[in-house]
This record gives sequence, C-alpha cells and structure tokens, in this order.
Amino acid sequence: MLRYFFYLLVTTGIIGGTYSIYHLYRVSSDNKKEMAQYEGLPDTVNNNLGKTLVIFYSLTGHTKNIAQKIKDKTNADIFEIQTAQELPKGPMLHLSVRKQIKNKEYPELKDIPDISSYDLIFIGSPVWWYTAATPVLSLLNKVDFKGKKVVPFSTQGSNAGTFFKDFQNHAQNATILTYASFNNMGKEYDQAIDAKIAAWINSL
Ligand SMILES: Cc1cc2nc3c(=O)[nH]c(=O)nc-3n(C[C@H](O)[C@H](O)[C@H](O)COP(=O)(O)O)c2cc1C
Repeated sequence: MLRYFFYLLVTTGIIGGTYSIYHLYRVSSDNKKEMAQYEGLPDTVNNNLGKTLVIFYSLTGHTKNIAQKIKDKTNADIFEIQTAQELPKGPMLHLSVRKQIKNKEYPELKDIPDISSYDLIFIGSPVWWYTAATPVLSLLNKVDFKGKKVVPFSTQGSNAGTFFKDFQNHAQNATILTYASFNNMGKEYDQAIDAKIAAWINSL
C-alpha cells in the first residue's frame, strides 16, 4: 500500500515538474516574441497628454520600475500607494490577499492623492490572484474619477487574468483609455520595454 502511495507521489511530482518547466518555457518564448516587435523602435513620447499623474502600487519593484519609466517619458508627477499597515510576508501574504479579494475587504491606505488638477492619470498595479493588487482596488473604491482620463497598467508573472475588467468595474466614473500589461522580464529587454511604453503612450 505504502509502495503505491510512493509511486503516486513520484508520478505527481514528475507531472507537476514537467508542467512547470513547459509553462516557464512557453512564457519565456511568448515574452521573446512580444519583445521582438519593439526591438530598435524609438523610445520617445511625442504625445501631449496634458497635466499627468502616475499612481502606482508596488511590493517588489516591478510596477515601480514601469511607473518610473512612464513618469520620465511624460514629465508626470508620481504618487506611490502605501498601505496603512504592513502586509504579511511570504505564504501569509498570498493567503491574506486571497481572503481580501473573496470578502471584498481591501487594506486601508496611508494617503489618497489629490487628482483634481490632472487631465490624465496612469494607474499601475501588480496582478494579485488574477486581479488588481488589493491596495489598488482600495484606491479605486475611494476616488471619484469623474472628468478624468485614466490609463491602467499592470505587471505580472505571466497571467493578468481579469485585471482590466475588474479595474474598469472599480474605477468610478473614469474615462478609461488603452490598458498596457507588462510581464516581468530580464534586463536584456529594457530597450524593448521602453519602446513598448513609448508606442503605447503615443497611441493614447
Ligand atoms: C499575492 C500575489 C499574487 C500574485 N498573483 C499573480 C497572478 O495571478 N498572475 C501573475 O501572472 N502573477 C502573479 N503574481 C506575481 C506579480 O504579479 C508580479 O511579480 C508583479 O510584477 C509584482 O509587482 P511588484 O514588483 O510591483 O510588486 C502574484 C504575486 C503576489 C505577491
């Protein structure tokens, strides 16, 4: 009996491991294909967006990196969303976020930005459990975007899930422009990411 259990465990491990390797291979090859479209393209923005603010939340720096690039290209102001209490770390973070999403109870924030003087607002978020990070959902629930153009962007491992649809549902009264999504990638794609950001902003 114990022997069969052992075989089952080993087989499950092999199948799981093979799937993970295949998944990583597929994501990396999709990233490579996407970035090839932007290689060598210009990375400058020539679109006048009016007075612009970049709002972002970032726990491990990926969204901050994209937000900073947008700020630099558009000469925007920038605002980092911070939670009033520190979020748990490691596996507890995943569990606590899952519960927040399920119960629609999002974390309290330190500050809410004053958006009144801005024409256009970028809002960047990591993808958490296939939706926007809960501090960003918190912000969207608190701010009235009436009369404002809002441009969402996300960073994620590979699967943004229902991020954009959920973002639209939470951003009250906003006029939402084209969303851009950025998978986490290595430094070798930096130039292509810059060109992708420029092409996106120039198309707004
Ligand atoms: C709680 C949690 C849930 C996540 N869920 C997803 C997900 O559903 N899909 C995905 O592709 N990446 C997921 N990720 C990975 C992050 O979206 C990704 O690393 C993101 O770029 C992190 O942004 P940051 O460095 O600005 O915090 C998750 C990360 C965390 C911490």
